[in-house]
Amino acid sequence: MRSRFKSRRAVVTGSARGIGLSITRRLLEEGATVAMVDIDADALAEATRVLNSAGFTDFIHCECDVADRRSVETLSTKVERQIGSVDILINNAAILDSTAIDALATSTLEEVWRVNFTGAVNCIQAFLAQLSQSHTARIVNIASINGLRGTSNSVAYNSAKAALINLTRSLAVDLSPRGILVNAVAPGFIETRMSRLPDGTSEYDTEWFRDVFIKHRRIPLGRVGRPEDVAGPVAFLCSDDAQYIAGHVLIVDGGVTATF
Ligand code: NAI
Repeated sequence: MRSRFKSRRAVVTGSARGIGLSITRRLLEEGATVAMVDIDADALAEATRVLNSAGFTDFIHCECDVADRRSVETLSTKVERQIGSVDILINNAAILDSTAIDALATSTLEEVWRVNFTGAVNCIQAFLAQLSQSHTARIVNIASINGLRGTSNSVAYNSAKAALINLTRSLAVDLSPRGILVNAVAPGFIETRMSRLPDGTSEYDTEWFRDVFIKHRRIPLGRVGRPEDVAGPVAFLCSDDAQYIAGHVLIVDGGVTATF
C-alpha cells in the first residue's frame, strides 16, 4: 500500500462506523495518524477493536458531539496534545431525518442543521489554527447528492447538505490563500446504517429500489455503493495529486445524477 499520508495527521468525525470508519481505515493504510471522533462511545470502542485486530494502532478515539461547540474546542486541544497539530479534517458526522414538511418540528429542523451543518463549522473553526500551520492542509466535507437534488420528505437533511456544499465553496475562497484546500464529496446510495429503514432492513433491498435503481439502471453502474467507494475519492482529495482543486464537489454516486 502507498504511504501518501505518512507523517500527516487527520481528524475524521462520525468515524465509528460506515463511511467515516472506511475513510479512517484508508488514511491509516496510507500512513496517516488519525483522531477518530464520534458521539457514540460504544461504536467507537467496537471500531477500535476492529482496527486493532486488523493491525492498526496509529489512531486515537475521542467521544464528542460535533454540534456542541465547547466539546469541539476541548477536542481540538486534546487532539493536538495527543497526536500533534492536524493536516486533514474530514467533516463526515451527520444524522438523517425523513420528516414530511407538514410534521417537521422546528426542534427537529434545528437539530439536523446543528449536527450536519453547524457541526462542520464548529470543527473547521476549532481546527483552523492547526490547519493553518500545515503545508498540506485539507478539509473535506461529506455532503450528499441530496444536497444537489430534491427528494421526498427530506427538507431538513437535504437543505443542511446544500448549505454544506455552499460552505465548501465559500471557504475555498476564504481559505485557499492560506493554503487550506476545501472540497466536498457528495455520495449517492451507500450501504451503511444510514440506509436502514426503521425496521432494520436496508432501503436498498426493497422491491421498488431494486426495480427502479438496479433493474432499470437509475444507478447506471447497477449497484449501490460501499463505504470504500467513498473513502478512495476522499483520500484523493487529501493527497498531493489534488493540489490544484478547491471548492469542488466530487460526486460519488455510480452515475445517478448523470441521468434523470
Ligand atoms: P452512519 O449513520 O453509518 O454514520 C454516521 C456516524 O456519525 C455515526 O457513527 C454517528 O454516531 C456519528 N454521529 C452522528 N451524530 C454525531 C454528532 N453529533 N457528533 C459526532 N458524531 C456523530 O452514516 P454514513 O452513511 O456512514 O454517513 C456518513 C456521511 O455520509 C454522512 O455525512 C452522510 O450524510 C453522508 N452520506 C451518506 C449516504 C449513504 O447513503 N449512506 C449518502 C450520502 C451522504
